[in-house]
Amino acid sequence: MSTALPSLSTEGLSVTTLDAAEEIMDAMVLRFEPDNLPKYQRLLQAYGAFAPGHGYQVGDDVTVARNFPLPEAPTLMALSYEAVRKCLFDQKNFNGKLYDGFNSSVEGEPAHEGLPLLEGAEHLRLRRLLGQGLNPRSIKIWEDRMVKPVVTRLLDALPLDEPVDLAKGFCRPLPGTAVGAVLGLRDQDLDAFNMMAFLMFTGPINEEGRKAERRIADYFAAHVEQRRALDEADLSERDDIISLMVKARDGEDRLSTAEIVPNLFFFLFAGSDTTYLTLCNIIYYLIEEPGLFDRVKADRSRIADLIEETLRLNPPGPVIGRKAKTDSEVSGCPIAQGTPITINLLMANRDPAAWNEPDNFNLDRPAEGKTHLTFGFGPHICPGMHLARLEMTVAINELLDRISALEWDPAFGRPEFVGVGSRAISRTRVILRP
Ligand code: HEM
Repeated sequence: MSTALPSLSTEGLSVTTLDAAEEIMDAMVLRFEPDNLPKYQRLLQAYGAFAPGHGYQVGDDVTVARNFPLPEAPTLMALSYEAVRKCLFDQKNFNGKLYDGFNSSVEGEPAHEGLPLLEGAEHLRLRRLLGQGLNPRSIKIWEDRMVKPVVTRLLDALPLDEPVDLAKGFCRPLPGTAVGAVLGLRDQDLDAFNMMAFLMFTGPINEEGRKAERRIADYFAAHVEQRRALDEADLSERDDIISLMVKARDGEDRLSTAEIVPNLFFFLFAGSDTTYLTLCNIIYYLIEEPGLFDRVKADRSRIADLIEETLRLNPPGPVIGRKAKTDSEVSGCPIAQGTPITINLLMANRDPAAWNEPDNFNLDRPAEGKTHLTFGFGPHICPGMHLARLEMTVAINELLDRISALEWDPAFGRPEFVGVGSRAISRTRVILRP
């Protein structure tokens, strides 16, 4: 048995293009504000592991992202590799409830919070069950059947030997569309889904974003119910994320629709912009680092190192939040209960106490044996990292198959790294040489 799926429509929305949705989002995350890195470096030098702040201000002249609610009260910013790891790992003293939770949009079902807002046993239970939907064992299947076709379709549409905006044509549409594909959405809905997913990110400051979110919630719920209505044999053959979540079991324990739907939102929130911006940043190093393009083109096993070193130098979400649950002390700094803490992943990944020549790109860096913190650390570490790496590996591999060189569009020249709530290059106008 199966139930009909509604189609996903942008009808009645006043924002209907990716460009328009992204413009609102850029303003929200201060995407094109000047790079804060030099200021963070000064803060680390001046204060060490933690810098004091108030509301969005840290030290004398640093403003942090305004896309999460920081009260007009004393705050701290964790800057060193050691302090950041400790705050992220220690659930007894720190939690992630700095943000307002998402409510379930599934009518008649109780509200549930998504993974990032939960902790302890509740968090572990949901991670164990939802994790079955992001199982790395499914990666090979997703690669061939779901991610590659999206990459190929996007690259086929890109012109060679003339200027092209790689963000618009490739890096930006790829993650949302690929996540839609691995969720098991229908091909004909993928473009609308990707657009509305972008629009939905603007929900905190934009009613149209909230409208898109409600529509996607209904659409997700319909998918979950459609999987539930499948015969056991049909369901057992499916390996998209939604089906894997519907099938997920821990003893007798299973996921309700009201638990799956808000977490699918988190997958989108956490998985789209991050992967998009990292792809843009990889392009930067492929052009700017002498010999790198040829080295990686000749030995594709180095794509993994290219991705990791790009992620280390440029977490696409450079800061995340925590709150002190108790009075404690970390790296010699006393922390009062209730203090909001901005966790600076960007600075931790460039802490000179942890890395050799931290600001240099070094393809052989992973051999140093330290793990960057761009995917977080501890109980909330990114469960989508395997999928993100898969998308980026397939994307770069296929791009390298098609071109012999990559150049900046001379009309625009070399971009720079920008952003406060995000971190990426300022533009991606390039020429692809066949
Ligand atoms: C380059 C790509 C990505 C980066 C840099 C990234 C980064 C992060 C970070 C730093 C966290 C931890 C946040 C915290 O501790 O407060 C996180 C959590 C999370 N990420 Fe990712 N992510 C990426 C891709 C993805 C993808 C593709 C998905 C899913 C499709 C995803 C799903 C999630 C979820 C659900 C969480 C919350 C986990 C929890 O709270 O237990 N991420 N991510």
